[in-house]
Amino acid sequence: MIFENLLYECSDGIATVTINRPKALNALNQATLKELLSLFTALKDDVAVKVVILTGAGEKAFVAGADISEMQPIDAVAGRHFALLGHKLAATIEELSKPVIAAVNGFALGGGCELALCCDMRLASENARFGQPEVNLGVIPGFGGTQRLPRLIGKGRACELLMTGDMVDAAEAYRIGLVNKVLPADELLPAASKLAAKIASKGQVAIGFVKSALRDGLEIDLARACTYEADLFGLCFATADQKEGMLAFLEKRPAQFTDK
Ligand code: CAA
Repeated sequence: MIFENLLYECSDGIATVTINRPKALNALNQATLKELLSLFTALKDDVAVKVVILTGAGEKAFVAGADISEMQPIDAVAGRHFALLGHKLAATIEELSKPVIAAVNGFALGGGCELALCCDMRLASENARFGQPEVNLGVIPGFGGTQRLPRLIGKGRACELLMTGDMVDAAEAYRIGLVNKVLPADELLPAASKLAAKIASKGQVAIGFVKSALRDGLEIDLARACTYEADLFGLCFATADQKEGMLAFLEKRPAQFTDK
């Protein structure tokens, strides 16, 4: 696949997707959203890919938001379509059975913060800044910020970010649980690759089940979520990886998972 606004590489089961519009601080215009959507849709069936890292080109920004120059003249119908496109991308990332790690290398604002929120984990460089500044523009978040942010950091903290439009630095983002880890800028991608490699070394059926249990279980009541977990746990016993993983433990050797 050839992309105008994305860079893509894959090695050893780890795909790295880089949003590449550094002159606009990697702002998400429709073309970039559509490219991301087709790439993440294709990754679903790509057996060579086990874990995905999502980052932004340049040293300044992960993604500085949806593209304001493209949004400024549009009407209500187009605005809704634009939001639905962002939601479709977020849902595609969340529904991908493979983990997606956001490596946030600078500004993650508006749609950029929302893009990081739909990833499974977030690592941030020390110069990263997070925020939902939409109210400064007379709008609200359109790619899920009013929903995923409170689910991740709690309603009160989310409310403050959503209503003030203020940015928080990486240390504060870590303190409030918005990111998993903060690293010096030059260590961000190596750390994301190391984390991805560790996850890629496990049986990928189990990794996909963990993602499903977290995603779907958190949206239903605890009793039904635990039943869902039991269903998935049971299904693990239909896999070669379960037989191998447990046999390897008993034989005191590393497991050789085949993702089957
Ligand atoms: N859309 C379009 N272009 C953007 C952009 C965006 N979201 N963010 C930055 N750019 C462009 C700037 O217009 C500028 O372009 P020119 O050089 O052609 O003038 C270039 O990127 C560099 O930006 P700045 O000169 O502004 O850089 P800075 O270092 O002075 O400031 C910043 C950096 C604080 C991130 C600032 O660019 C900024 O505030 N950007 C907008 C952030 C924002 O409001 N994001 C939310 C958008 S709305 C949204 O995302 C809705 C949604 O939920 C779907």
